[in-house]
Parts: sequence; structure tokens; C-alpha cells
Amino acid sequence: MAKEGFFICVEGLDGCGKTTQAKILVNRLKRKGYDAVYTAEPSSGRIGKFIKEYCLHGGKRLSSVVEALLFAADRFEHVEKEVIPDLEKGKIVVSDRYVYSSLAYQGAAGLDLGWIKMVNEHALKPDLAIFIDAQPEIVMQRLKPKKSVMENLETQLKVREVYLKFVESGELVKVDGNKSKQEVAEEIFSLVIRSLAKTNI
Ligand code: TYD
Repeated sequence: MAKEGFFICVEGLDGCGKTTQAKILVNRLKRKGYDAVYTAEPSSGRIGKFIKEYCLHGGKRLSSVVEALLFAADRFEHVEKEVIPDLEKGKIVVSDRYVYSSLAYQGAAGLDLGWIKMVNEHALKPDLAIFIDAQPEIVMQRLKPKKSVMENLETQLKVREVYLKFVESGELVKVDGNKSKQEVAEEIFSLVIRSLAKTNI
């Protein structure tokens, strides 16, 4: 059977430790002999760079519709140019943020979740989507001084609520992000190993 790889996304609030955890996961998988790669959204492609440069810092937020469309456009580029080619090589792709970030952040800004899903309907479905759940009050303390236009307590509280809806529906698997870095890493690793055991990879 052709190798197809395995697509994981790691989601969570700004400052929840997802970048650190996604990188730890990739290193642990490599040590186990898997071919794993780290990637992230906003991506390092042209649209991702545009988002980082013009949309996340300074000034006011763009309208949520514009944000959702830009993130979706970046996602298609990311999936087409990086994620799919790596999956076709049989790799485990770990994406630091994916479509649930759009649902959570642009959904928290008032956009209809059905519409966000629709503009993302061509985005590849992940095999495993992990939500690192950390208390918004705690992540806000870690984030000082403020980094981006998204990083205020009111937004983070709303974003968490949307993420939790997808935990309830079973689309996201929740990991307790209030534990130590090592404990969170352990929980994520065993979750991934259990999921991989159900596949041919
Ligand atoms: P973040 O992971 O914090 O990037 P960095 O490590 O470069 O700081 O992501 C940047 C911000 O973009 C974050 O606040 C969440 C937001 N975002 C959305 O609002 N929608 C999306 O679809 C994505 C991917 C990110």
C-alpha cells in the first residue's frame, strides 16, 4: 500500500506552548525512527509573510472577513506547496496551527463558523487535531509585552470557548496545557503514538 503520511495539527491560545510542544513532538518522533517535519501557519510562503508583516502587528485588526480570507488563502498555499508533498513522501507533518485557528480566532471575532468552514472546505482534513488547553489568564501573563493584535484577555477567552466547542464535537482532542512542559509533551506523544498505531504508517 502506498505510504500516505500522517497529518497532525497543534492548536491553542497564543502563549499556550504549542510551538514548543509541536517541535518537541517532531524531535521525539524522529528519535523513534519516524520521518517527521514541523511546519506552521501563518506559513513561510508569500501570503503567510504578508499576514505576519501587515496584519498581526501594530494598528487595529483587519475586518474578520478579510482575516479569514487571508488565512484561508495562506492555508491553501501551505497545503499545496508543503503539506501534501511531504505527506506524499510518507512523512508525519506537524502543523503549528491550522484550520481550527481560523474557526477559533475569526469565529471569536464574530464570524459565522459555517462560513469559515466553507471558505476552508478545500483544506485537507488532519488525521489528528490537538488542542493544548491553557488558562487564558495564565497565557496572557506569559505574553507580556503584547505581541500581536490578537493578544488581549477578552479575545483569548472567546477564542478558548470556540476551541472547546470543537473538543465537544470530537474534532479536537484536548490536552491539559496547565501541566509542566514535560508532562504536556508526554501526553501529546502518547496520544500521537496511539493514533499512529491505528494507521499503516
Ligand atoms: P502564532 O502561532 O502566534 O504565530 P507566531 O508564533 O509567529 O507569533 O500565530 C499568529 C496569530 O495568528 C495568532 O494570534 C493566531 C492568529 N491566527 C488567526 O487568527 N487565524 C488563523 O487561521 C491562524 C492560522 C492564525
